[in-house]
Amino acid sequence: KLSTLNKLEPKDVEHFATILPKTSILSTLPPIHGSADDLDPFNSDWMGKYVGQSQCVLKPRTTEEVSKIMKWCWERRIPVVPQGGNTGLVGGSVPIGSEVILNLSNMNKIRTFDPISGILVCDAGCILESLSEFLDPHKHIMPLDLGAKGSCQIGGNVSTNAGGLRLLRYGSLHGTVLGLEVVLPDGRVMDQLTTLRKDNTGYDLKQLFIGAEGTLGVVTGVSILTPAAPMAQQAIFLALPSFATLPKVYRAAKRHLSEIISAFEYFDRQSYNLVSGHTGAKALEDSEIGDSQAFVLIETSGGDANHDQEKVNNLLEELYEPADGEEALINSGALSQSADQFASLWAFREGIAEAAGKSGKVYKYDISVPVSEFVNTTNRVRERVGHKVKEVVGYGHVGDGNLHINVIAETYTKEIEELLEPFIYEVVASHRGSISAEHGIGKMKPQHLHYSKDAVSIDLMKKIKQLFDERGIMNPGKVVPM
Ligand code: FAD
Ligand code: MLT
Ligand code: ZN
Repeated sequence: KLSTLNKLEPKDVEHFATILPKTSILSTLPPIHGSADDLDPFNSDWMGKYVGQSQCVLKPRTTEEVSKIMKWCWERRIPVVPQGGNTGLVGGSVPIGSEVILNLSNMNKIRTFDPISGILVCDAGCILESLSEFLDPHKHIMPLDLGAKGSCQIGGNVSTNAGGLRLLRYGSLHGTVLGLEVVLPDGRVMDQLTTLRKDNTGYDLKQLFIGAEGTLGVVTGVSILTPAAPMAQQAIFLALPSFATLPKVYRAAKRHLSEIISAFEYFDRQSYNLVSGHTGAKALEDSEIGDSQAFVLIETSGGDANHDQEKVNNLLEELYEPADGEEALINSGALSQSADQFASLWAFREGIAEAAGKSGKVYKYDISVPVSEFVNTTNRVRERVGHKVKEVVGYGHVGDGNLHINVIAETYTKEIEELLEPFIYEVVASHRGSISAEHGIGKMKPQHLHYSKDAVSIDLMKKIKQLFDERGIMNPGKVVPM
C-alpha cells in the first residue's frame, strides 16, 4: 500500500509555500533549504523509540490552510502524519518513512466558552494545560488531566481518546466531546462542531475520530463539555503492606467517599523507588513506609471541605481498623493540607513516566485487565524479562481497570522485544482484556490488534479506513493492520 504513495518533491514544498508563510514550514527541500536537525524533534517520539525521516513539517494556522494542504496531498498521493504535542506513547505521531508532518501547534485559539453550559470550543492545537488555565477564572476544569498536560494538545487527546487521571469521575472523551471539526483526507471539511448535549440525528460520525489516531482525518476544532471546578479537593496518599489489600481499600474508598472520589491511582514499590530515586522526593517518611509494597493516591473533589474531610476521616478509620476485626489495610497515609502538598503528591504519581524515561529505554504496556490481576500480570513480566533489563514497574488507574507495565532496559533490543511481545498480549487476551487501554495502537500494535478485537471488527475497521481514506495517505501504517 505504501508503495502507491508518492515521495515529496520540491514542487510540493513550493506549493505549500503558497498556502503558508515560509516561517510555518520546516523543510530540507527547496525553496526552504532548512537543516535536518531542525526536523529532528518532530521526527522522533517522546520515548526516542520511533524515528521517522520526514523532510517537511507544516504548521497551519487555520482550518482552511489544513484543508488546502490536504487537498494537495490527496491529489498528489503524498502521505501525511497529523501531529499534536508529540507526547504519544505508541509511535503514532511520527512518520514511519518520509511522510509530511502536519503539526497543529499554530492552531491554538479558544473559539468560544459558555459559562452557563460549561461548553468550550477551541482549536485542536490548544495545549491541555493552557485550556485549564483559561478555564480557571471561570471556575471550570477540563474533564481530563494527564502527566503530559504541559505539551499535549486537545486534538491529540481526542485523537488518542486519552484517559488519564480523572476518567473515573468525568468519563471518557466519547462522552464529553460534543462536537468536532475535521479535515478529511481529501481536504473536505466535516463540520460537526456543535455544542449540543443531545443530538440523535443519525450516525454519530464524530465518535469515529475519537481515538482514530490521525488515520481518518485531521481534527481541527473541538467542542467539549467542561465540569464546574470543585470547591474543595484533597489528595490522600496511602502505603499498603501488599497489593492484596488494595481491592478492599478501593471498595472502602468508593463506599465512604461515594460522589466525591475523583481518582484512585496505584503504583508498586518499584515505581515508588524509581520516582523517589529520580527526584529525591518522598511522599511519606521512610519509617512510615517500611516495607510497604503498594501505594495508592486517592483524590476527592467535592463541594464542602468539612463535609469531605469527615468522609475521608471515616475512610481512614476503617482502613486502620476494619470493621470485621481484620488487620489494618494500610501501613500509613498522608493527607494534603495545602494546595502545594496536593500538587506534590500528584507530582509524585505523575512523575513515574518521566522517571522511567530518565532511567533507561522504556517498553510501555498499557493494558486493561481485572484489578485483581494487576500484580500477577506485572510479576509474570518480571519473571520473563527481569534478568535482561534494569527494572519492571507497575502502576495505573485502578478505577478504570488500567495497568501500565514499564519495562526499563539499557537499550531497545530485538531480543527483549521478542520476549515481551506477544507474551504480554497473550496474557491480556487470556483475561479478555485490552492491549491498549488508553494510549492507542499507533505503530506499535496494529499487528497485535487481534488479541483484543475479533476478525469481524478488524474487517470493519479496514472498511472504515478505506471509506474515509481510499488513497491511504492519512497516517499510513498506524492502527489498522495491513
Ligand atoms: P501526539 O502525540 O502528537 O499524537 C498522538 C496521535 O494522535 C498520533 O497518532 C497523531 O497522528 C494523532 N493526532 C494528534 N493530533 C491530531 C489531530 N489534531 N488530528 C488528528 N490526529 C491527531 N495518555 C493517556 O491516555 N493517559 C495518561 O494518563 C497519559 N499520560 C501521559 C504522561 C506522559 C508524561 C506522557 C509523555 C504521555 C502520556 N499519555 C497519556 C500519552 C499521550 O500524552 C496522550 O496520548 C495524548 O493524548 C497525546 O496528545 P498529543 O497532542 O501529544 O498527540
Ligand atoms: C500514566 O498513567 O502515567 C500515563 O499513561 C503515562 C504512562 O503510562 O507512562
Ligand atoms: Zn495512564
